[in-house]
Amino acid sequence: MNTPSAREHTAVREVEPSMTGEAPTEHDRTPAEWWRTAVIYQIYPRSFADANGDGMGDLAGITGRLPALHDLGIDAIWLSPFYTSPQHDAGYDVADYCDVDPIFGTLADFDTLQHTAHELGIRVIVDLVPNHSSSAHPWFQAALAAPEGSAERAHYIFREGKGQHGEFPPNNWESVFGGNAWTRLTNPDGTPGQWYLHLFDTTQPDFDWDNPWVRAQFRGVLRFWLDRGADGFRVDVAHGMIKAAGLPDYTPPVEGGSMGGATVTEPGIIAEWAETAPYWAQGGVHEIYRDWRLVLDEYPGERILAAEAWVDPLSHVAEWVRPDEMHQAFNFAYLETPWGGPTLRRVIDDSLTAFSAVGAPSTWVLSNHDVVRHASRLALTAENLQGHGIGPKTAGLPDTVVGLQRARAATALMLALPGSSYLYQGEELGLPEVIDLPDASREDPTWFRTNGERYGRDGCRVPLPWESAAPSYGFGPTSASWLPQPAEWGTLARDAQEGVPGSTLELYKLALRLRREHALGLGAVDWLAGFGDPIVHFRNGGVVVVANTGTEPIELPAGELLLTSEPLAGRTLPGDTTAWLRA
Ligand code: NOJ
Repeated sequence: MNTPSAREHTAVREVEPSMTGEAPTEHDRTPAEWWRTAVIYQIYPRSFADANGDGMGDLAGITGRLPALHDLGIDAIWLSPFYTSPQHDAGYDVADYCDVDPIFGTLADFDTLQHTAHELGIRVIVDLVPNHSSSAHPWFQAALAAPEGSAERAHYIFREGKGQHGEFPPNNWESVFGGNAWTRLTNPDGTPGQWYLHLFDTTQPDFDWDNPWVRAQFRGVLRFWLDRGADGFRVDVAHGMIKAAGLPDYTPPVEGGSMGGATVTEPGIIAEWAETAPYWAQGGVHEIYRDWRLVLDEYPGERILAAEAWVDPLSHVAEWVRPDEMHQAFNFAYLETPWGGPTLRRVIDDSLTAFSAVGAPSTWVLSNHDVVRHASRLALTAENLQGHGIGPKTAGLPDTVVGLQRARAATALMLALPGSSYLYQGEELGLPEVIDLPDASREDPTWFRTNGERYGRDGCRVPLPWESAAPSYGFGPTSASWLPQPAEWGTLARDAQEGVPGSTLELYKLALRLRREHALGLGAVDWLAGFGDPIVHFRNGGVVVVANTGTEPIELPAGELLLTSEPLAGRTLPGDTTAWLRA
C-alpha cells in the first residue's frame, strides 16, 4: 500500500485571524492536519465546572471556563459523554445519542460551548459510544417489548441460555466491570426468557454490529454531530464492537483490567489475549471505521476519529489508524509503561515505528477518567491492575511528594515527543488520585459489581478546584460536589497556581508554549548517548530533552535551559526530574 510518510503531512500554515477580529496569536497557528500534533485536553463534564450549583458539572460551566484552557495553550477538547443517560456508567450508558442530558444542559448549551471554543481557536471532539447503549434507550426498550426472534431484538445480542431450562448463560464471558456478561430477561408472564450480552454493566446492552440497521443508525449519529460542527469523535471501546461468530467460550490468560487492558509486565500474555479474545479486536471492526471515514471525509475542516482500542502490541493498534480508517488511536502502552529509562525508550521507539508504518502520528497519554491519575500511579509500589483503582486498603499506596515530582517529570518528557498528546483535566494542577472517598459516595459500577473488591475509577473523577477560597473550590457557585473534594485541594486550586513560578500549572503552560514555538509535535526523536540506563536523552529539532528517571543526580550537558520540571541547583539534574535545553 502506498502510505504517505508523516513528514509529507506536516506542512504548517497559519489559520485565519479569529472571528473576533483580533490579530492571530501564537495559539492560532495550527498545522493543516491539526490532529497530527494537537494537544487534546479531556473534559469530564460531570467534574469540570458546575454553572447551576447542583454539584454536577454542566456544559454552561465548561463554556464559562474555556478561557482558562485557551490560556493553558491546548488545541482541542474531548468531551466525555454529556448525552441523555441514566448515568449508571457516568454517561457511557447513552439513552439518546442526539440530545443532551438535562443534568448537563441542552443542545443550545452545546452549541454555545462549541461556538465559544471555536472563537478561542479550540476544536471540539465529542465521545461516541457505539459498542452498547443504555438499557433505557428506546431501541433496547423496543427489543424488550418485542418477541424473541423479532427485528427489534436483532439490534442487540439476545440468545437462549444453556441447560435444560436455559438457566445458564449462553457462554462464559465475564463483564469487564466484574461478574457475568449476560443478564436473563423475565417474560411478561413472569417466566424466565432470553439472555442479553453486556460486556460492561447490566444496563449497557451490546449492539449487534453485524446488523446493517445498527450501522445505518450510527451513520446518522455521526452526521448529527458533524452537521452541528463537531470536529471529531473519540470512539469508545473501538476494539469491541464485533464478536466472533458463534460467541465461543473464552477464558482470558490473566485477570484483566477493567477496559480489557491489563498489566504490561507480561506483554506476551496480553498480546495473546488481544489476539484471541472473541470479543476484542475482531477483524470485522475495520470495515465499520472505513465506512465512517467516508462519512467524515464528506465534511470540510479535517474532522477526526480517535480510537479507544485496548489492543496490544502497538503494531496491532496501528491497524486502527491505517490511512482509510481512524486518524488517531490512544497509546495505552505508553500510559501503562512504568517510570524507567529502558522501558520508556522502548515504548517510544515502538510507538513511533508502529504508527509511522501506517503514516499516522503517535499519540501520548498519561491520565484519563479510567485510570489512576499519574501523579499517584507513578509512585505506586505494588502492582495495580488498570480499572481497579486505589483506596485505603490498596497495597503499595503512593508517596504523594514522589508521585507529583515524577508526574511533572513524566509530563515534561511526554510533551517533548513528536505527535499528539492527550491531557486529562486536573493533571495541569498536579491533582493526585483521591484515595479516601467515603464508600457511600462511590458511583463507579466496578465498585458495585465487585462488592467493593475493586475501588474503580471514582478517585480520578473528583470535581476540579478552581478557586482556593470559594465553596467547592470554585467548581460551582455552591458547596455542592457530586464527589467530595479533599480539604487540601484548596492549595492546588487553579488560582493558587496561576502566575506562581514553579507551580504545576505554570510548568504545563511553559511546556505547551515551548512545544508550539519549537514545533515539537512535528519533529522526530534522535536518541543521544552520554548517560546511563535511567536517563532518557534525545533531541527533537531545536530542543534536547534529559529525563532522569533514576535516583542519582547527573550533570546536564551544555546548552541554555528552557524548562525544568523542578527548580535546579546549578546544572545538576536530580532524580525524577526532566530538563529541556536549547540544542
Ligand atoms: C471506556 C470508557 O472510557 C469507560 O469510562 C466506560 O466505562 C467504558 N468504555 C464502557 O463504555
